[in-house]
Amino acid sequence: MGWLDGKVALITGGGSGIGRGTVGAFVNEGARVAVLEFSPAKAAGLRSELGAAVHVVEGDATLLADNERAVEETVGAFGKLDALITFPGIFDGQIPLLNMPGDKLSDAFDELFAVNVKSDVLSAKAALPHLLESGGNIIFTVSNAGFYPDGGGCLYTASKFAVRGLVTQLAYELAPKVRVNGVSPGGTRTEIRGVRSFGLDEPIYARMPPDVRLGQSNPLQLEGKPEDHAWAYVYLASNERARLVTGTILPTDGGLGVRGMRKPGGLL
Ligand SMILES: NC(=O)c1ccc[n+]([C@@H]2O[C@H](COP(=O)([O-])OP(=O)(O)OC[C@H]3O[C@@H](n4cnc5c(N)ncnc54)[C@H](O)[C@@H]3O)[C@@H](O)[C@H]2O)c1
Repeated sequence: MGWLDGKVALITGGGSGIGRGTVGAFVNEGARVAVLEFSPAKAAGLRSELGAAVHVVEGDATLLADNERAVEETVGAFGKLDALITFPGIFDGQIPLLNMPGDKLSDAFDELFAVNVKSDVLSAKAALPHLLESGGNIIFTVSNAGFYPDGGGCLYTASKFAVRGLVTQLAYELAPKVRVNGVSPGGTRTEIRGVRSFGLDEPIYARMPPDVRLGQSNPLQLEGKPEDHAWAYVYLASNERARLVTGTILPTDGGLGVRGMRKPGGLL
């Protein structure tokens, strides 16, 4: 028996990376899954890899109309909506503010906040009527950058603190009917791209040497894979197992909150 048997989830940005890992885990755990995905190539990949197990909607999560269409198609295909999980995100290249080009800064801010924050608000707005009906839940994707410095530049970090704000405010507004939580992954090799306004169009990790150890700064000394994070989403989406949990953010970051001053972990 799967942890999400009989549940219906809409996953935005599920075409690659942590979202793709979560789509796979939800399907394995018995959920019926719809995905709102911006990239036609990734949408086609989902269709060919998962077939009828997923309903794929091509569209842009920064537009309310596309979110509404995705919700309508989800309910049309599967009859209801139990969970909304959001993944769209782009990176600022970790450029210090001192070095960010002033003439591009305003555009870069708008571009990054549209994908990282506005899309979450619009996806939630579109899904709400059906989540209220089903007594469902929302899970937003935060980041270690939503808690600590140096996980991004100031644009990315501020955007992820904003997503924490969405978790806190919406968990209050929607209680007791809809639970709202977040997952906070640590560094994970995915296809996340940088802001176009800074000319960082390409996937960030593709430019990182393969011998860089992403896990070296966390106490567990582990680099996460999309599948590792996916279990946190499965747990939080399960109304049976997480029925007392709302307004919280589950870190899947190797223990960054207990990182030591002299060395990351006591036994190192
Ligand atoms: N990779 C990391 O190290 C890391 C760490 C912490 C948090 N995160 C967060 O995890 C989330 C997923 O990122 P990822 O690293 O898996 O990146 P990714 O680029 O591999 O996945 C993001 C997916 O969202 C899609 N997408 C982007 N904009 C969209 C839009 N407007 N509408 C619909 N779909 C859109 C992309 O096409 C892609 O399929 C992001 O919110 C990111 O900030 C990533």
